[in-house]
Parts: sequence; structure tokens; C-alpha cells
Amino acid sequence: MKEMGSVWLIMVVGLVVMSTTTITTLAQTGGRRPVFFDVTTYGAMADGKTDNSMAFSKAWTKACEWKYGKSVVFIPKGTYMVNSVIFRGPCSGPITFIIKGVLKASTDPKLFFTDHWIGFQYVDGLVVKGGGYLDGQGPSAWPYNDCSTNPNCKPLPTTMRFDFVSNSRVHHLRSINSKNSHFNLFACTNMNMSHIRISAPEDSPNTDGIHIGDSSNINVARAHIATGDDCIAMVSGSRDIHISGVSCGPGHGISIGSLGKSKYVKETVTGVTIVNCTLTGTQNGVRIKTWAPSSPSIASDLTFQYILMEDVNNPIIIDQQYCPQPNCNSNAYNSEVQISNVTFKNIWGTSSSKVAVNIKCSGIAPCQNIKLVNINLSYNGLGGPAISSCSNVRGRSYGTQNPPGCL
Ligand SMILES: *[C@@H]1O[C@H](CO)[C@@H](O)[C@H](O)[C@H]1NC(C)=O
Ligand SMILES: *[C@@H]1O[C@H](CO)[C@@H](O)[C@H](O)[C@H]1NC(C)=O
Ligand SMILES: *[C@@H]1O[C@H](CO)[C@@H](O)[C@H](O)[C@H]1NC(C)=O
Ligand SMILES: *[C@@H]1O[C@H](CO)[C@@H](O)[C@H](O)[C@H]1NC(C)=O
Repeated sequence: MKEMGSVWLIMVVGLVVMSTTTITTLAQTGGRRPVFFDVTTYGAMADGKTDNSMAFSKAWTKACEWKYGKSVVFIPKGTYMVNSVIFRGPCSGPITFIIKGVLKASTDPKLFFTDHWIGFQYVDGLVVKGGGYLDGQGPSAWPYNDCSTNPNCKPLPTTMRFDFVSNSRVHHLRSINSKNSHFNLFACTNMNMSHIRISAPEDSPNTDGIHIGDSSNINVARAHIATGDDCIAMVSGSRDIHISGVSCGPGHGISIGSLGKSKYVKETVTGVTIVNCTLTGTQNGVRIKTWAPSSPSIASDLTFQYILMEDVNNPIIIDQQYCPQPNCNSNAYNSEVQISNVTFKNIWGTSSSKVAVNIKCSGIAPCQNIKLVNINLSYNGLGGPAISSCSNVRGRSYGTQNPPGCL
């Protein structure tokens, strides 16, 4: 028996050594097979009650430290409660985060006032995918949102934040009922998002679909976004953003800005293309909004084309007197955001307000080089055809113009 025991021991040790060597060799020789870090191995429980943020963090830490090739954090099917959690890099190699299950955020008001629910920071080469759901449980938190009346309101958490993330992809994910924005990108470069489905009720406050700021080289393709605020918002520092194949509605439409809210910081958005999108029943279609008064800022090189508007309230709108807060007297001030080189091309469908094209620029920084090309928008209400309205605009129109152009 004694001898048998040591033979067994040798065999077991041998196996362990062999398998470790195999993994290491596999990984070092190109590592086609990524190594999985399943959250349930780290104590995650898909019971819909237990807070799994520690288990998720442990799986992330192990995966992020993995030096021998690709690693995967894996969340199997099931419903997981997760409190706020940040997945921080840099990691030792490319890392993938696969969400098959449903993640549910907290409904405890004590945990509401933070800027994120799930955050990724300082990661290069991240992939987030899996077809799973992010359920922000927004209805529990929306009553605490007083931002429409309180300029110093505390933020509710964004469902998924990416801060300082680069060369990454986010695809095949669903977000429902975020407490604040669904997705937020800050200081990101070279990121592609696709096949994202977003939903929240039309009256849910500040639930932007995808909010982008201080980021460049971002592609968003094939997304369905139904929400209470902007479908996609591009704010200060957005550069080279390409959006295609997105359908929006309900919500406030695709927005550049608002820009210039702070009176001191120069805010810039340049190089945005929006193509092949559909807006259905939204408050706005494609919009550029700037505060008045504002800091001297820039919005330029923006192209909106092949866009179908279905029953949209303000299909094409530039608003340089934006000031949604109470007690604002924006008409008394001018915006100093210079808008230039903007093309609206091949935009058709229906407007639910009479003014289908509304370009209201700044008296002290008139819009420059605005082009309207092949516009065909009809008013679907009573009281005559659609009209256009322009003030302080320099530009030209080409091709079909319905409503008749005002440039
Ligand atoms: C994003 O998509 C563009 C265009 O398809 C591609 O050139 C780029 O490499 C992609 N970036 C990542 C990080 O996948
Ligand atoms: C837009 O749609 C047209 C026609 O389907 C297609 O040829 C083009 O590649 C699309 N553009 C983008 C950027 O998706
Ligand atoms: C607008 O376009 C013109 C002509 O292509 C170019 O000279 C100018 O620099 C552009 N303006 C901005 C702010 O990019
Ligand atoms: C404009 O749209 C209307 C209705 O959708 C359509 O009947 C008409 O042919 C279009 N005009 C042009 C020039 O495309």
C-alpha cells in the first residue's frame, strides 16, 4: 500500500506538471485557445440576490494578470446581482469579457450615487460581448433624478463606462433600463461597438444610449436604441466618430453637444459621420446644440447622410440657443461655438412639426459652409406643407429641397 501510494503521488504530480506545461506551451506558441476564468469558479452565484461584485473582480484580476496569451472572463447564463464594480487594467495580454447571463444592478438607494455601475478602465485590447443583458433596474432610481430642476444634482450610475480604453470592441450586448446613460465612453481611442440593443422608456430621465466624450476613432454600427434621452450623444473632445446602421426611437435623436456649457473651457467636436440611420418617433433627428452664452468652441467637419426620419419632431436642427434649465435667458446671449463644414445629405421622411429644417445659429459666430443636399421631408400634421427656418447661416443647398431651402 505504501509503495502504491507513492506511485500514485508520482503519477498525480506528473499529470499536474504535464498539464501546466501543456497550457504554458500552448499559450507561448501562439495561444490560439484563450484561457477561461469563469466567475462561478470565483464564487459567483446566479441566484439573482447575492452581490457578485467581489467574485467578478477576482475573476477579472486573475484573467488580467494572465501572461501567456488571451484570457477570458466568462459569465455563464443565469441572473447575477452585481453592485458597482470597476475592471481596471492595464492587463498582461488581450482580454475578453463574455456576458452570457443577465446582470442586475442594485435597487438600494444607498448605492445609487456613483458614476458607474460596471466600469472598464485603462484596458488595451478589450472585447466585451456575449449576447447577455445588463439590467440597470432604472425604475428604482429615476425618482431620485432631480437634474431637471437642480443644476448640482448628483449623478446616478451609468450602466457601462469605458474610461481610457483603447483598441477594443464591444458587441452583441443588450442594455435595459439604465439608471443614467446606458454606455459612456471617456478618453477612449479606436473602439468599435456593434450589434448593441438598448432600451428604456421614453420618459426615463437622462438615459442616453451611447454617450461619447474626449474620445477618437470610435465606430458604432448596427445598433437599436430606444431610450428616454439622446440616442447617441457626442460631446466635447469627440473626434473621428463614425456611426452607421443605427435605428433610434423613442428618444431625443442623434446629438452633437451640447457644447460650451462651461464658460471657460474650449470644447471641440470634429470629424463626425452619421450614415444609414433611421429615426422613428424621436424628439429630434440630427441635432447640433450649443449653449448661449458659451465658451469659444468649435464644431466642424460633420456629415449626416442617408437618414430616414419617421414622424420625427425636429428632423434637422441646429440650436445655438440651447439652455434647458429653468431661469435661463438664452435669447439675451450669443453662443461663441463656431459651427462649420456641416453637410446634411439625402435625408428624407416625415416631420411631426411644421419646421422640418431648423437652423438657428449664433449672431456673433454665424454657421459657415452648411450644405443641404437632397432633402425630402414632409409634414405629417395639419396646416400646410413643411417649412424651413434659418438664421445666421452661411451655406448652400443642392438638389431636391422639400421643404424649400432657406440657404
Ligand atoms: C474597428 O473597425 C475598423 C473598420 O472596420 C477597423 O479598421 C479597426 O481595426 C477596428 N478596430 C478594432 C479595435 O477592432
Ligand atoms: C450605407 O448603405 C449603403 C447601401 O446599403 C452601403 O452601400 C454603404 O456601404 C453603407 N455605408 C456604411 C458606412 O455603412
Ligand atoms: C472647413 O472646410 C474648409 C474647406 O475644405 C477648410 O479650409 C477649413 O479649414 C474647414 N474648417 C474647419 C474648422 O475645419
Ligand atoms: C419626396 O417624398 C415623397 C413622399 O415620400 C415622394 O412622393 C417624392 O417622390 C419624393 N421626392 C423626391 C424628389 O424624391
